[in-house]
Amino acid sequence: MSVKCPKWLENAVFYEIYPSSFFDSNGDGIGDIQGIIAKLDYLEQLGVNALWLNPCFASPFADGGYDIADYCQVATRYGTNDDLAELFRSAEKRGMKICLDLVAGHTSIAHKWFKESAKAERNAYSDYYIWTDSWLSPSCGMSMINGAAERDGSFAINFFSTQPALNYGFANPDPKCKWQLPVDHPACRKVREEMKNIMRFWLNLGAAGFRCDMAPSLVKKDPDRKETMAIWREFRAMLDEEYPEAVLIAEWAYAPQSLKAGFHCDFLLHCGTPAYTTLFRNEPERDLWDGLDKSGFYEKDGNDYTVSNKHSYFDPAGLGDAEFFFKTYLDHYERTKNDGFISIPTGNHDMTRISDLRDERDLACVFAFILTMPGVPFIYYGDEIGMRNVKGLVSREGGYSRTQSRTPMQWNSGKNAGFSTAGAEELYLPVDTACGAPDVAEQQSRPDSLWNTVRQLTGIRRRHDALNAGSDFKLLLADYPMIYTRSSENEKLLIVIQPARRAWQTEIVLPKGITKLAPVISTDISAEVAGNKLKLSGTAGTQSGIWQMI
Ligand code: GLC
Ligand code: CA
Repeated sequence: MSVKCPKWLENAVFYEIYPSSFFDSNGDGIGDIQGIIAKLDYLEQLGVNALWLNPCFASPFADGGYDIADYCQVATRYGTNDDLAELFRSAEKRGMKICLDLVAGHTSIAHKWFKESAKAERNAYSDYYIWTDSWLSPSCGMSMINGAAERDGSFAINFFSTQPALNYGFANPDPKCKWQLPVDHPACRKVREEMKNIMRFWLNLGAAGFRCDMAPSLVKKDPDRKETMAIWREFRAMLDEEYPEAVLIAEWAYAPQSLKAGFHCDFLLHCGTPAYTTLFRNEPERDLWDGLDKSGFYEKDGNDYTVSNKHSYFDPAGLGDAEFFFKTYLDHYERTKNDGFISIPTGNHDMTRISDLRDERDLACVFAFILTMPGVPFIYYGDEIGMRNVKGLVSREGGYSRTQSRTPMQWNSGKNAGFSTAGAEELYLPVDTACGAPDVAEQQSRPDSLWNTVRQLTGIRRRHDALNAGSDFKLLLADYPMIYTRSSENEKLLIVIQPARRAWQTEIVLPKGITKLAPVISTDISAEVAGNKLKLSGTAGTQSGIWQMI
């Protein structure tokens, strides 16, 4: 396929770092940028070649840093801008790219633009945010806060009450509400320019691109997202011209829109189409945000939003429905494969971790799938060792139920699992001390551990063109197992994923001209070629295999 994208994205394997919880270099109990630098060797060994850092900018941290007070200043608890520049340089030396989080839709109320905007007297920032013209005006169906400023009016928010929406205008301003500005109003255009300058600032310092928070949220009352898409296309055009190596990754969860909006990648997420949930979430561990509409910012797929099966496909009981997943996935894939990539993440800072109800072997199967599918894979920190959800924690920094998947990385069996030298009570969040909590050191020393399997898989992905983001994908069977091929000009790979823990066998017709299979990774699956047929079987289940087809 012919996606116009920087070459490096074709074989990128991303790793998401929640900075507060990765590694604390100075013993204050909170992870930091020097801590990430200290762990670059680790990340290189794991075989990832791109990082996405959650927001690491000045913030009151009412929403884990997604409430930004200064876009161009690293939060003091994480270090300095120089530390971040050093991280970019150290990563670059290893051929590793670093993407930052761009929260384009809203700031914190602590941002100087908002403080100015909240003043009664008109000034250059008055229209940077969405304010009604009187505290008595109706909110027109939007989430609004009133009574919080000297300015007479209410302001629109995007998420929590301290995250005021930046003003990109309204697609269809209501003539009765003069405060609803059109998208080409000078103030709204100014906000776009501010965002471009923020991108330039970090790209000039060495960032490789951005994961764009709540990307569909920019323009209000934009039902088909046409105006929001136009803004992102304008941002993309700026990048293509000034920083052709930079990438834009959307938190949009609806590839048919986001990739047309100029994004290089979009995530398959729990809060968009049901595809992610169908793959990974079991009852009663259905995703936290299932059914939560998130203020309508995320695109639903119209038909079929309700997930009826109680079992995910990656459920050891083997009662899930791969066809349901592929119905949406293939539709989106076919419609977007010339525009960009669909990213399947192992998890993220908003979701429960995939480790619930799964053992290492089950998780290895999930990784074999994610790391052989088309698009750009994302590993959430700690998922490579099967870190668990730590239940029952008191919410930290607006995490609420998300707090359970944001606990400190478990490096070893030492103090605070090697995360920090601080006292346990000073840690950002408690370390998982439950019996059997995994750690990196133990898994590195055990050849058949999840960590070693993930490392093997990232290596295979990076060595085989056929597993590049844009290499061909063909589904042969959507069942237990699922079977597909990936191919490039030079090679064709067969992939078999069997998440069910049971004995099984199946037979498929081999693609024309194929007479032999050579395993790329060791597997317990038996694969026998007989004429144009391939007989596959396994005795214990929860297995995967990758073969070169010759
Ligand atoms: C995105 C982030 C989430 C944050 C929200 C508001 O969904 O992933 O963590 O709370 O946006 O910025
Ligand atoms: Ca620290």
